[in-house]
Amino acid sequence: MQNIFLVASGKGGVGKSSLTAFLGRALVKLNKRVLLIDLDIALRSLDLILGVTEKCVYDWGDVLEGRAMPEQAVVKGENGNPDLLCAPVRSSSAIDAAGLLLIIQSIKDNYDYIFLDAPAGLGVMLSIGAAVANKAIVVATPDEVCVRSAGVAADKIRSFGFNGEIRLVINRYRKKESKKGMLLNADTVIDKTYVQLIGIVPEDSLIAFHSVKSAFGFVGPASKAFMRIAKRLEGEQIPLKFTKL
Ligand SMILES: Nc1ncnc2c1ncn2[C@@H]1O[C@H](COP(=O)(O)OP(=O)(O)OP(=O)(O)O)[C@@H](O)[C@H]1O
Ligand SMILES: [Mg+2]
Repeated sequence: MQNIFLVASGKGGVGKSSLTAFLGRALVKLNKRVLLIDLDIALRSLDLILGVTEKCVYDWGDVLEGRAMPEQAVVKGENGNPDLLCAPVRSSSAIDAAGLLLIIQSIKDNYDYIFLDAPAGLGVMLSIGAAVANKAIVVATPDEVCVRSAGVAADKIRSFGFNGEIRLVINRYRKKESKKGMLLNADTVIDKTYVQLIGIVPEDSLIAFHSVKSAFGFVGPASKAFMRIAKRLEGEQIPLKFTKL
């Protein structure tokens, strides 16, 4: 099991949790065993995006504090969803990288992919995520503010001693605006972040709708982009189609 991805961005609201959830669903479609772990204490959102909030009885904080076993805390994926380990709703002194690593080690053999959805910012949960992950994805929307923060996030992850590969996803790409110079184009984003691109996800209003619905029936342009990224992670040679977005 070599695929423990940290998903980070620096700035908030750029689409980390959406990418985590929909990439997870795309990999499930490819018959992969996928676990998502929400690291966003107090502001967790993967349960909402996957539509499983009422099933989140325990979270990984309960496991660290001895109230639940890891298997009990995992919400089993149904209807095309990946499995989910929810974030605690409040911080505690029991939260540290060693504890989270122990949880992951106890269940990692059940999975082909584990994704850790980091909170915005460069704080302690980013360092914990960097300590337990072996790969990372930074997400940026194609504007100066988010692109600089994605580059800073990538540097910060490396500064924690992380030496796995880091890949870039450009989210909410709008081809027309990008062509007109109103948004940065993909090449500029890559140049400014110094991170190798693994996918471009277009702006797609269907994301919000399909966030709380089942995994089936989402066939918009973003859904296709998530599937292309999933296939790239699986080693398929899928060209990056800037022009077709
Ligand atoms: N490609 C997209 N097209 C349209 N809307 C999107 C896209 N990606 C994300 N969104 C919307 O952007 C909002 C923020 O997304 P999301 O919660 O995934 O970001 P985040 O980076 O996880 O935020 P936070 O930093 O607060 O954790 C949501 O309303 C989501 O539906
Ligand atoms: Mg989020």
